[in-house]
Amino acid sequence: MTNLASETLSQLRSAAELAAEKAYAPYSNFRVGAALLFDDGTIVTGCNVENVSYGLTICAERAALCRAVAEGGAHRQIVAIVVTNLNRSASPPCGACRQMLSEFVAPDAVVYFPDDRGVASVPFKELLPHVFRDWTKETNARG
Ligand code: THU
Repeated sequence: MTNLASETLSQLRSAAELAAEKAYAPYSNFRVGAALLFDDGTIVTGCNVENVSYGLTICAERAALCRAVAEGGAHRQIVAIVVTNLNRSASPPCGACRQMLSEFVAPDAVVYFPDDRGVASVPFKELLPHVFRDWTKETNARG
């Protein structure tokens, strides 16, 4: 498990909080921010963007991921993920986000998110132990 310097962690947290401020969440009022730290040292953030259809809503984590690929390509690996929200509530990444992130995380990536006791830090592997991959193919991005 990658141990982040506390300075890096607070930088990621501030970046995620700033992103959460930008959330478009008029339906749930649940404002989420995510900050991804890549292996080249880059930090990319995202916020949730809701839609009146509800189902088309994009979570902060996936918004950050898509932005990162668009801006920097798909070759980089995520070494740490920080999720935060402005609602003082627990918010681990949802299942859809875990699956999407799984193709870009380094083997020892760690996820930090608010839980009911404060901030949890969990290795990505433990958050999504039985990741979906295409077992009929020899090449898969992860594993
Ligand atoms: N949300 C995220 O941004 N990330 C998650 O991992 C879970 C949920 C957002 C989606 C929606 O806009 C709001 O939180 C309430 O579910």
